[in-house]
Amino acid sequence: MRYAIISDIHGNLAALEQVLKQIDETGVDQLVCLGDVVGYGPYPNECCEIIQDKADICLLGNHDSAAIGLTDAAYFNRYARSAIGWTARVLNEKNAAFLRQLPMTAVHQGLMFVHSSPLQPEEWNYVFTIDEAFDQFQSFEQQICFIGHSHIPIVWNLQESGFPKSSVALKVKIVKGCRYIINVGSVGQPRDDNPDACYGIFDDAQKIFSLHRIRYNVAQTQQAMRDLDLPVFLIDRLQFGK
Ligand SMILES: [Fe+2]
Repeated sequence: MRYAIISDIHGNLAALEQVLKQIDETGVDQLVCLGDVVGYGPYPNECCEIIQDKADICLLGNHDSAAIGLTDAAYFNRYARSAIGWTARVLNEKNAAFLRQLPMTAVHQGLMFVHSSPLQPEEWNYVFTIDEAFDQFQSFEQQICFIGHSHIPIVWNLQESGFPKSSVALKVKIVKGCRYIINVGSVGQPRDDNPDACYGIFDDAQKIFSLHRIRYNVAQTQQAMRDLDLPVFLIDRLQFGK
């Protein structure tokens, strides 16, 4: 089975459309969205509708949760808070209802999926360091757990020796005896110094995970954000992948 795994769309319709076009051309069996369909970007309703229609699995992200009042946005930085306030105001009832019923985690055919991290996913913790990854490996039993949330693609590999190591390779062969936490990066707001939209493909038969980047019309999203008076910081960062 081939999975396309996308995350952190953040209302960036141009990025989402470009990614889905490429996924369609590639051909996959399952489309999995790890959450944060909304927040930051100018098209929350449109992105919700596309994901409702196309994703086989969709999980709740912290911005989705904040947009429907389930997570207090007080801990967001002021730009994120301002954008989530706007998102909550414009989100229509149908899309709010869609977000409200999203699960925090999913397991499909022995693969684990979660937005933030498998240990206490509702705490929205990040996995940035080796120590953090090590703790997370103790909290799920599957060989692979796919995550998003940080907007930074990375593969954490727990080797048979019991020590985790990280890699940013574009292609990873899944090895028997090793376990993996794989961050698929962000479709709509990459933060790894590369502004191109990011997503992953996992081929279960070949045991290969690959990371994909695709250019989209950043200026179009930026203009839509300007027209809506969304924070300049959020508009500028898109072109740098920051
Ligand atoms: Fe996010």
